[in-house]
Amino acid sequence: MKKYLVIGNPIDHSLSPELHNHWINQCGLDAIYEKKKLDNNDLENLILDIRKGNINGVNVTVPFKNTIIPYLDELSSEAKKTHSVNTIYLENKKIIGHNTDIEGFETAIENINFDFKKKKIFILGAGGVVPSIIYASIKMGSSEIMISNRTKRKADEVKNIFNNIKLVNWGEIPDFDVVINATSLGLNQDDKINLDFTKVGKNKLFYDVIYNPSETNFLSSGKKLGNKYENGKLMFIYQAFSAFKLWHGIEPSVNDETIKLLD
Ligand code: ATR
Repeated sequence: MKKYLVIGNPIDHSLSPELHNHWINQCGLDAIYEKKKLDNNDLENLILDIRKGNINGVNVTVPFKNTIIPYLDELSSEAKKTHSVNTIYLENKKIIGHNTDIEGFETAIENINFDFKKKKIFILGAGGVVPSIIYASIKMGSSEIMISNRTKRKADEVKNIFNNIKLVNWGEIPDFDVVINATSLGLNQDDKINLDFTKVGKNKLFYDVIYNPSETNFLSSGKKLGNKYENGKLMFIYQAFSAFKLWHGIEPSVNDETIKLLD
């Protein structure tokens, strides 16, 4: 039986096993997908297990998307460009790191028929998923990318990867077409981002990477002001879709049943 894992810390909240095991059963594969909480000093043994074939594939989440990189043999161009790995596999005896968050975000945006071309994108946060959102936004033709993070040093680190982005002081709101919450604020239903969007106008896209709860206060404020809004559920599903396809060579189905699994 093939074995797959998602690693992170914390990891309890992860719904990746539900999604992958659903597809594994649907496709009749002899495989299992589990979650595992790791510390930094567990990474070396994890890599050894992949090399030995005890583990056939790994998804990586916060806080290891970047710190896992030195342990890998090769990176895909997407992983290189974002300094971020969320999917690992063994190919020709080499451990490869890839990034499917980019494709996940692009497919999610395609699905809601929102065109990023020539749009100004304002991203809140500078954590693990932000380089992937920036890279996808560049690919989709956005005209300007701005990021704002409570801790400026972390925003500076993202700017070291993508020189052309603009940094915005935390608390300030620039002119934008799309605002993306990539902070962890909103994971608790009571969380409020201390930003006043009442003057930004209408017909913007408010996008939250968070999908549980399905409507954060951030999304509710965008909705109340007459904007489009979307949570991170499809992004999550499509990053998993791409990892599944890479590991098993099969495109799993994405439909209402898949979406309901995450409710
Ligand atoms: P990591 O930072 O380990 O990659 P993450 O979940 O990917 O973890 O990112 C958390 C993001 O939410 C960060 O941008 C964080 O801001 P800091 O860099 O200042 O920590 C942001 N965040 C979390 N709590 C926040 C809060 N109360 N106010 C503003 N931003 C917050």
